[in-house]
Amino acid sequence: MDLCNRVAIVTGAVGTIGQGICRSLRLQGMQLVVADLSQEACDRLAEELRASGGSALGLAVDVTSRVSTQKMAQTVIEAFGQIDVLVNNAGIIVVAPVTDLKESDWDQVIAVNLKGAFLCTQAVAAHMIENRNGRIINISSVAAKRPGPLQTAYAASKHGLIGLTQVWCQELGPHNITVNAVCPGFIDSAMWREQLSPAYAPGFGCEPSELVETIAKAFMPLQRPQTPEDIGQAVAYLCAADQVSGQALTVDGGHALW
Ligand SMILES: NC(=O)c1ccc[n+]([C@@H]2O[C@H](COP(=O)([O-])OP(=O)(O)OC[C@H]3O[C@@H](n4cnc5c(N)ncnc54)[C@H](O)[C@@H]3O)[C@@H](O)[C@H]2O)c1
Repeated sequence: MDLCNRVAIVTGAVGTIGQGICRSLRLQGMQLVVADLSQEACDRLAEELRASGGSALGLAVDVTSRVSTQKMAQTVIEAFGQIDVLVNNAGIIVVAPVTDLKESDWDQVIAVNLKGAFLCTQAVAAHMIENRNGRIINISSVAAKRPGPLQTAYAASKHGLIGLTQVWCQELGPHNITVNAVCPGFIDSAMWREQLSPAYAPGFGCEPSELVETIAKAFMPLQRPQTPEDIGQAVAYLCAADQVSGQALTVDGGHALW
C-alpha cells in the first residue's frame, strides 16, 4: 500500500513508543490521528506533527470504553473521510507475583491491553470492510514470546493479542485487510520506570535507571535496547506490506532467541 496521505489512528500515541510510531508514519507522509487519554497531550503531539507538514488530529479516547472508541472512529471518518490503519498501541503493566496480583489490576490490564484492541478494531472494521482496504497492527510484546516472572496479566494480554491477530487475519483477509502484531523488546518508558525497573533491578544488581541497558548488554545479541523509532519502522513496514498478514514481528535485538 502506498502510505502517502493514508490515515492512521495510533492509540496510546503520546506514550514513548506511540510517539515513535507517529513520527515514523509521518515520515511516510501519512495523516495521523493521535489518540490517547489526555486531549491536551494529544493536541501537543498533533501540533508537533503538523509542524513537520501534513495533517494530524489529537483525539482523547479511552480504549476500554465502547462509547469512546465508537466516537473516535466516527470523528475520524468525519474529519478525514477514511481510516486506513489502526495501531492498537495503548497498554499498561502491573508487576506482581501471581500470589499477590489484585483482581482489580488483572481486570484493568486485560481491559486496556486486550479489550481495548478489540473495541478499537470493532469500531473501525466495518468502515475498512466497506472500503475493501485496511491495516490493523497490534502492539504485543516480547512478553508474548519469552515472558518473564511477575507478568501474569501482562503476558496473558500480550499472548491474547497474538491470538486476536491470527483470528482477525483470517476473518478480515477476504476484505483486503491485513492484521499483524509487533512484539517490541526493551524500550525505556513509563512502564519500565514505574513498574518493571524497581521490581527487577535488585535481581540484576543494578540501579533501576540502568536496568534496560544492563539487560540489553547481557541478554541481547545486539547488546542495545530498542528505540521507539525501531518499533515505528516495523509498524511502517507492516502498513506498506500487501502480502504479510497474521504475523507477530519481534523487534528485540534477538532477545527472544537468547
Ligand atoms: N516499553 C517497552 O519496553 C515495551 C515492550 C513491549 C511492549 N510494549 C508495549 O508498547 C505499548 C506502548 O508502551 P510504552 O512503553 O510506550 O508505554 P507508555 O506508558 O509510555 O505508553 C502507553 C500509553 O498508553 C496510554 N493509555 C493507557 N491506558 C489507556 C486507555 N485506557 N486509553 C487510551 N490510552 C491509554 C497511556 O496514556 C500512554 O500514553 C504498550 O502496549 C506496551 O505494552 C512496550
